[in-house]
Amino acid sequence: MAEGSQLIRGLEGVVAVETRLCDLDGANGRLAYGGYNIDDLARRATFEEVCYLLWYGELPKPAQLDKITTELIAAREIPPALVDGFALMPKDTDPMRVLQAAVAILGMHDRETTDSSHAANVRKAVRLTSQMATAICAHHRVRQGQVPVPPAPDLGHAANFLYMLAGTRPAPAAVKAFDASLTLYAEHEMNASTTTTRAIASTQSDMHSAVAGGVGALKGPLHGGAGEAVMRTLMEIGEVANVDGFADRALRERRRLMGFGHRVYKAGDPRAAILKGMAEEACRQSGQFKWFEMAVELHDRIGRAKGLIPNVDFYSAPLFYSLGIPVDLFTPVIAAGRIAGWTANIVEQCDDNRLIRPRADYVGPKARPWVAREQR
Ligand code: CMC
Repeated sequence: MAEGSQLIRGLEGVVAVETRLCDLDGANGRLAYGGYNIDDLARRATFEEVCYLLWYGELPKPAQLDKITTELIAAREIPPALVDGFALMPKDTDPMRVLQAAVAILGMHDRETTDSSHAANVRKAVRLTSQMATAICAHHRVRQGQVPVPPAPDLGHAANFLYMLAGTRPAPAAVKAFDASLTLYAEHEMNASTTTTRAIASTQSDMHSAVAGGVGALKGPLHGGAGEAVMRTLMEIGEVANVDGFADRALRERRRLMGFGHRVYKAGDPRAAILKGMAEEACRQSGQFKWFEMAVELHDRIGRAKGLIPNVDFYSAPLFYSLGIPVDLFTPVIAAGRIAGWTANIVEQCDDNRLIRPRADYVGPKARPWVAREQR
């Protein structure tokens, strides 16, 4: 290891960049984007306003909101070649794998792919945010043997997503819950996928390559993949009456429980508290209250036994499920929110770049004499 270097496994607690995007106070369970509390943003702002805040540093004035909304709507189309490509992909492949490929393909079709100037990066952030939503929904339709639903220009980002997914216009309550979820997932400082996007951008690669890398990192169950895993856990439990037995077994087997724990938040994840209320409402509305009841029961049991806190992915699982989102699309939906933050971080990284290149502590054999091939 280089002199003066210190081994910090998992880069835990290491501060690698300065940011104006996200203020994360793990000790006190507080989160703000650009100084605005996450609770206010989730309850009062639209996802479009949050995108503007992340890309421009301020909440939009009405005319600015109209402009960004128009730009996002205008950017919803995806190249027909990409839709044709979806038909060639294995029907049972993981949608996150498809999304990663889709982002790379969108990069091949974007006229500004290799322009990493501030202005071009913000324009690409708009395009990627809209096109990723369309790509996720179009792929889902194609894998089911259906024709993609064209975007509806009179619907906002969240409503249009649900519309393109299901082919029917969503109820206002579902739109509000989904819109708030996108906001809650939009940005979260140097999480593993954002760190990945920043590391890629820091090599002077490009936004599409960085986002494709971010999708790959988000997919893992220790990160965004946890939401899907939470829903599979709830399905494995099946009924509220089974929670106790499941929890006893899981604790005995020292099982890693998805949706619990966090690298930074130790007192509580403020996003989980907001999502809990939204999940309760959505599960009640959809007539599937048992998923919420099971989640609350599990939260209570695991919290009491291990002191573990539920993270953002815990209550988003019953929420997304009751909104009719297929379980294997939970992580792509998280990506559809996080794209706002990934792109904002890439803009910030490119504007004030420093190559991200940590060191490793070599623990292999020390210098060894060369051994000829026939003598090994
Ligand atoms: N289930 C059981 N035990 C846990 C869990 C869990 N979910 N999380 C932490 N612990 C225990 C862990 O076993 C360890 O105990 P001990 O010291 O006795 O070995 C202690 O708590 C510290 O855990 P850690 O793994 O060292 O903590 P970390 O900071 O490396 O891990 C984490 C953070 C999120 C990877 C981890 O809590 C985890 O695996 N959670 C489950 C997966 C999950 O929900 N991921 C989503 C994270 S938040 C949203 C996102 O990133 O997208």
